[in-house]
Amino acid sequence: MSFANQKLVDFDSKSLLISAAAIAFNPTFWNIVARREYRTHFLTRAFGGNARRACYALAATIFSLGLIRDGLYERALRHQPTHPALEGPLPTYIGYALLAVGNILVISSTWALGITGTFLGDYFGILMDHMVTGFPFNVTDAPMYYGSTMSFLGTALVFGKPAGILLTVWVLFVYLVALRFENPFTAGIYAKREQERAAAKAGGSSAAGSKSFAQVAKENKPNQGKKDL
Ligand SMILES: *[C@@H]1O[C@H](CO)[C@@H](O)[C@H](O)[C@H]1NC(C)=O
Repeated sequence: MSFANQKLVDFDSKSLLISAAAIAFNPTFWNIVARREYRTHFLTRAFGGNARRACYALAATIFSLGLIRDGLYERALRHQPTHPALEGPLPTYIGYALLAVGNILVISSTWALGITGTFLGDYFGILMDHMVTGFPFNVTDAPMYYGSTMSFLGTALVFGKPAGILLTVWVLFVYLVALRFENPFTAGIYAKREQERAAAKAGGSSAAGSKSFAQVAKENKPNQGKKDL
């Protein structure tokens, strides 16, 4: 990519690729681990049968991976060219505003869901009692993901780096793929609970048991879009 002799993005920089890989790695990692936990309870067993403690351990791991990913992103940006169009005060102010709003979305979402609600507790069998509908879930269905994306973009603008904007597009893509992958699964977990409750109420005679997981997932609304940081 070039613009009036000014290189926008240095694709030869190794740190750019490393940052892109870290961005894709994190949701891949937590989805693989969480689904395995759902199927085998291997983490809960590793923590002596304590699902809550196992979930906290995964939360700490995901959070740490997020910090590493953020560090690699900033390192990648430092190795990238700055663009004059992004150097004025306006892009910087917009960048700080995006960082502020992004962090408000992420922090308020964690506050509303709690640690287990934010970090895949449902895969551990720690289900929310009911859907959280207050702020920030009344402004976006996936405040974690959109808040995080805004923070990436804000950082790119504050640093004045076109490469950061490119990596932000990658972040958004990765999150949208993650949502398409996670929402039906989580919806299925909750649908299963609802059907078990209904079955218990009806004295155990329900058609629910014969429904396939995919069917259940399809019939239910997506979850709230969580995780990250
Ligand atoms: C979302 O909820 C908050 C408080 O819970 C409220 O102040 C805000 O106006 C709501 N926003 C929308 C778009 O409904």
